[in-house]
Amino acid sequence: MNDPNGVVQWRGRYHVFYQHNPLAPHWAPPHWGHAVSDDLVHWEHLPVAITPDMPPADDGGCWSGCLVIDAGTPTILYTGVRDGVQATSVAIGSDDLVRWRKLGDNPVARVPDSLSEHTLEAYRDPFVWRESDAWYALVGTSLGGVGQALLYRSGDLRTWTYLHPFVPEHAEPVCDDTGQIWECPNFVTVGGAHLLLVSRWQRTELTYPNVLIGRYRDRRFHPERRQRLDWGYRCFYAPLTMEDDRGRRLMWGWLQEQRSVEGANGTWAGVMSLPRVVTFEDDEVRQRFVPELTALRTGEHARLDAVDVRDRVELDVGGSALELSLTLERDTAAVSGLRLQHSEAEHTDVLIAWRTKRLIVDTRHAKGPHGADYAVDSAPLGLPGEPLERVEMHLYLDSSVLELIADDRHALTTRVYPEGPAVDRVALTAVGGAARVVRCEAWSLERSR
Ligand code: FRU
Repeated sequence: MNDPNGVVQWRGRYHVFYQHNPLAPHWAPPHWGHAVSDDLVHWEHLPVAITPDMPPADDGGCWSGCLVIDAGTPTILYTGVRDGVQATSVAIGSDDLVRWRKLGDNPVARVPDSLSEHTLEAYRDPFVWRESDAWYALVGTSLGGVGQALLYRSGDLRTWTYLHPFVPEHAEPVCDDTGQIWECPNFVTVGGAHLLLVSRWQRTELTYPNVLIGRYRDRRFHPERRQRLDWGYRCFYAPLTMEDDRGRRLMWGWLQEQRSVEGANGTWAGVMSLPRVVTFEDDEVRQRFVPELTALRTGEHARLDAVDVRDRVELDVGGSALELSLTLERDTAAVSGLRLQHSEAEHTDVLIAWRTKRLIVDTRHAKGPHGADYAVDSAPLGLPGEPLERVEMHLYLDSSVLELIADDRHALTTRVYPEGPAVDRVALTAVGGAARVVRCEAWSLERSR
């Protein structure tokens, strides 16, 4: 699998579609896979929703897009690729979202002629929303070598009028280095703030997503600031969001493999992130794992309160699926954190460097023989101009997936491929002095069904 597509809550159930190759664990002209859940925790696979060979055929695949409900009619807008050309196409669904029919006169929108020379042939990932007067869509592209999203309007989701580039060109420097192509744009309002999420495609690498925070005026988005949505490199990517019936903005991302094809296990590659709740608080985008996931806390539980760690203190918990919640305060240690010990020889370190205010995740000793050579990720912590005194971390490890959110602000997702699959020990660690652990809780989680 790759990107999440068409995430929606419909008749009370959560649906996630996704880029899918049902035949082999590598990318090929994608289908749309489909899974459904009542609780965001347990998922049931449903039949593949749209396939490249459904007429009219998309020989290059049914690439990413979104799903909207148009006066009761489920409607997918996706990128149909034919003869190498990307264009927006439409499919109409049955009421249970299981059976889909592509429109005979697809595609419904193409790159405007005036721009076609300048887009790096990228014209994809339509994201649609409703305003009082019409439907609007963004399509991800590149203009003049930098990422851009093109804005369209439609009355019926079938006839689209191109309006203009969504972000005015003077949006430098906020948009500097946000990618040569913006993939998978999402334009949403969260806690009163207008947010534009874009995934950074740079020199053929799918690197990481950013969120631009700005003003929406005259149907143009004026970015003022930006945050990186995840600090893992080439892991959490192409996030897609939806609002559920509790008014929460939920987000999923695709977690890329970080091992070579030879190292893949032969049956699957790519995985969906845990669902996260996105909020806007104190002028910042925040992220938290959905609270529903606490239902998985059915195994061993370990807790430590108010301990001073010198060198290391072990927690009595292990397994291949773990949740950890931890509050640390600054003490004399320069660096403190966690070691996930996979085996005698293999471990993953999650560290806080107090003086430089960095969160560091070091997977060099857990990437296995086929792992990526980028194995140390780091994220900023704390507030500019203030010393770092305290950090709260929330972490899930699920076999090869490590997802971590610090202070509800800094997400860092990465992959580990130890030869010893489970974690057999979790240790709190301190280097160069003492570490103050205010609280640490660990749960071993049920295996997925
Ligand atoms: C992002 C992406 C999208 C595209 C899809 C194709 O990972 O490159 O831009 O629609 O994957 O599978």
